[in-house]
Amino acid sequence: MKLTLRRPDDWHLHLRDNDMLTAVAGVSAARFARALIMPNLVPPVVARADAIAYRTRIMQAVGGASFTPYMSLYLTENTQPSEVVQAAKDGTVLAVKLYPAGATTNSASGVADLSKVMPVLEAMAQNNIVLCVHGEVTHAEVDIFDREAQFIDTVLDPLRSQLPELRIVMEHITTRQAAEYVTSSAGNLAASITTHHLMINRNHMLAGGIRPHYYCLPIVKRESHREALLAVATSGDPRFFLGTDSAPHTKNTKLSECGCAGVFNAANTMECLASLFEEQDALEMLEGFTSVNGANWYGLALNEETITLEKRDEPMSVPEPIVIGDDVVVPFDPARPIYWHQI
Ligand code: NCD
Ligand code: ZN
Repeated sequence: MKLTLRRPDDWHLHLRDNDMLTAVAGVSAARFARALIMPNLVPPVVARADAIAYRTRIMQAVGGASFTPYMSLYLTENTQPSEVVQAAKDGTVLAVKLYPAGATTNSASGVADLSKVMPVLEAMAQNNIVLCVHGEVTHAEVDIFDREAQFIDTVLDPLRSQLPELRIVMEHITTRQAAEYVTSSAGNLAASITTHHLMINRNHMLAGGIRPHYYCLPIVKRESHREALLAVATSGDPRFFLGTDSAPHTKNTKLSECGCAGVFNAANTMECLASLFEEQDALEMLEGFTSVNGANWYGLALNEETITLEKRDEPMSVPEPIVIGDDVVVPFDPARPIYWHQI
């Protein structure tokens, strides 16, 4: 069985910088036409000039591959509305990213007090600039498995009431509550979903031994949440689209006393998704999720190139680790045989 679809886009991707960028950029560029690049470098991509310089480094790392990186700006409490408006108006950036301070990898410069960024958010609403949010509260007293649901009630919903014109992507949703919140919203809200949150639940990470390569943020939840995500991803609802959140960390930094959050899934995402969508009897919805809905949300033309996936008798092997100096980045293991191959 073969499946041909428009070349996919990745609306949430970490490419890092320096040696890591050099090592991983080609993996995404060979598979995806375009990606929205996350700005959580150290230091973060806060200014228009940072985004321009980072984009140049990405294009160098990609070499001749046909791949378009779309840049995002990292929102801080010092971000000036004029900087954001100029960067979006002249096409330097496609979106602005809100990290609650301390929510995830390299988010120390994020926003602790949302009222401080209201002028920026108002300017974004007026100028039709998309806000991508890492949707988790960060208070120490909130259980890590409840942080996304609580973010919806205490941050996202009040923000949307205050600024209904602001176009928001709730990034890498992981819960039934988030899926339902987006489904039931009246407008200006979409969500990206990762490959791994569609494939694994917290038992994969924690039962029978702890598997650090499945540790990411927002943390994977129980099976009923995975099922809710799969239901909306395969439903054809145009508000849901792929953002892999492929987030490479070296093996040494993941397998340590305080291991890093992030799953590196860029190398086998399409094969994994084909397998999942087939299981759901929803292969005809795959193209919408990976190659149409996100582009439409961002107001971009659809890719005209296509890719072909083929189902074979032999499963695909987990991609080889990527060597970086004397360390490696370990690709996502989908925890089941994947019979789809990209040809
Ligand atoms: C991401 C990273 O490593 O930059 N980690 C992750 O677990 N997803 C940051 C993020 O998107 O939260
Ligand atoms: Zn991410």
